[in-house]
Amino acid sequence: MLIINSIEQLKNHLNRIRDQKKIIGFVPTMGALHQGHISLIERAKTVCDVVICSIFVNPTQFNDLSDLEKYPRTLITDCQLLETAKCDSVFAPEVLELYTKEELELKKQKIEDKSWTKGKTVDFGDLEKVMEGAQRPGHFNGVAQVVSKLFRIVEPDKAYFGQKDFQQLAIIRSMVKQLEMPIEIIACEIMREPNGLAMSSRNERLTKEERVLAAVISKTLFKIKADCFLKPISDLLKGAEELIRSQPLLTLEYLEIVDSETLQPINAIDPSKSAVVCIAVKLGAVRLIDNVVLY
Ligand code: PAF
Repeated sequence: MLIINSIEQLKNHLNRIRDQKKIIGFVPTMGALHQGHISLIERAKTVCDVVICSIFVNPTQFNDLSDLEKYPRTLITDCQLLETAKCDSVFAPEVLELYTKEELELKKQKIEDKSWTKGKTVDFGDLEKVMEGAQRPGHFNGVAQVVSKLFRIVEPDKAYFGQKDFQQLAIIRSMVKQLEMPIEIIACEIMREPNGLAMSSRNERLTKEERVLAAVISKTLFKIKADCFLKPISDLLKGAEELIRSQPLLTLEYLEIVDSETLQPINAIDPSKSAVVCIAVKLGAVRLIDNVVLY
């Protein structure tokens, strides 16, 4: 498996692959890989000739500096996992390989940098005003900034993302459409621990006890799914909020039942459309998100 740090080296490598008319699959990550990431690699390998994974803890998508500092960095074990999964190459750039000092300075000053649109008008509209977007100002601009940079470097045919970050997926689909990038975005299902906890790099920061306790998050979501055609939405949410609040170590940030496309909250079940329940909680110092598609 090739491990590449420089954009130039990566582009040369990928140009040779493209010349052979091979299908390039891309899995962008921030490292601290787990089985959820590996399932993306495996899915990509089923249809792509070459699979490349990026590992880059993106500073511009963190709105909390201590969260960025605490984000787990495990490059050596990540590469071992990727090698076992038969990933073809890893792109692991330094921050200054992807960002200019000016871009980082704008982030430091909390100024939203839109240079990644390259002069096009990109507007995520209401998609970024709810849930993660509302809780984490600037987060999706940072995600779009780094993903657009990576897409322009890798120019993959297909890119794979986990559905755990449901809103991120919607933002990336919208970005690709608005920037007219010829990349197919593929959503992959959430991988869960045996107790139902959605796999996440942040789980590494939970204590053993917290990991056990965290099972209540997905249990709550699956209860809503089981009851969604039986009770009004207000009752579903009320019951679920009580369940979460019964756990003193959990702090609920949001719990919303939203339209799967617009991500706007819905007031009534409409089986002709699709809906998803999304949650963000804090468990001790760790922020966790999860979601379950209801119908
Ligand atoms: O989902 C993630 O790990 C990150 O948000 C991504 C897409 C790699 C961008 O930094």
